[in-house]
Amino acid sequence: MVNGFIAARARFLYDDSSMSASRAAKTAEQPGHGSPVPFPHRHLLGIEGLSAQDIEILLNRSDYYVDLNRAVEKKQTSLRGRTIINLFFENSTRTRTSFELAGKRLGADVINMSVATSSVKKGETLIDTAITLNAMHPDLLVVRHQDSGAVALLAQKVGCGVINGGDGSHEHPTQALLDALTIRRRKGRLEGLSVAICGDILHSRVARSNIHLLNTMGARVRLIAPPTLLPAYADRLGVEVFHDMRKGLTDVDIVMMLRLQMERFHGSFVPSTREYFHFYGLDYEKLGFAKSDALIMHPGPMNRGIEIDTEVADDIHRSVIHEQVEMGVAVRMACLELLAQHLPNWRGTTPAGT
Ligand code: NCD
Repeated sequence: MVNGFIAARARFLYDDSSMSASRAAKTAEQPGHGSPVPFPHRHLLGIEGLSAQDIEILLNRSDYYVDLNRAVEKKQTSLRGRTIINLFFENSTRTRTSFELAGKRLGADVINMSVATSSVKKGETLIDTAITLNAMHPDLLVVRHQDSGAVALLAQKVGCGVINGGDGSHEHPTQALLDALTIRRRKGRLEGLSVAICGDILHSRVARSNIHLLNTMGARVRLIAPPTLLPAYADRLGVEVFHDMRKGLTDVDIVMMLRLQMERFHGSFVPSTREYFHFYGLDYEKLGFAKSDALIMHPGPMNRGIEIDTEVADDIHRSVIHEQVEMGVAVRMACLELLAQHLPNWRGTTPAGT
């Protein structure tokens, strides 16, 4: 359930002014810090509030890590001696695993805390958990929480850098970055591309982060969904809205499918999953309206036969779903490293080419 109060506080916090550009520059001037720190944020709470330049910095550094991850020797040392805690209040496979891999490949110690085994089950509040973990001096916290705004609230209570691993229906910044990296590497650019985001927009933090990112980078966004699965403010997001898949998909470069997030349904949003697939499921017939080289994307986990036909999902020429997972590790390495530059005693080198 979206917590309105927390969401309002979160909006207030998006512009992460706790580390201003001038302070970041000062930090960079200290001996051993290399050239000026290019990423002027101490936390990554959302895409909203990031500039096109911030996004470019993150994507450029991610490109570097894609190459590194494809090499035999993947281990780096820039986060050696640092502690990262993955604090996941919601289930996750790929996000948690890829943050863990990313931290380890950078040489950090990574601890995974899932709520199933934590004191949250004994009634501890989010803030008490955060303060307890903070006392153990982590350097970076990656947090996923079911309430929109909860991660931003937590970031106010701790002394370390915080990355939002997905908060309620609000934002999932590293997912949007990995989607952008996948698109940019395939199409050579983001600007001017036509991207259709289809399905359960209402409950999707992936959609919200992608809308912010794609708009900031000059892509054209279309949302395709039944009226029940669109937020009331959809027409104020700087996007085109369609209720008909065939019309919405016409001539798009990218088809981004979303999972029907039934765990967030409070009431009836679709008559049946069969009917939903008939009107909004991606099959070859509907895909035929997109450009012939349009890419098929999905953040996972997929519901085959509900939002996407299984053959379309596995299409080796068009589907980049596995590539998205690969890009996820690289993006998370870049995010961890660029935020770590704001930690006291940063001794790594400032990345070249960012
Ligand atoms: C997404 C999420 O958790 O928001 N998944 C992910 O991070 N790979 C999308 C979803 O759960 O449908």
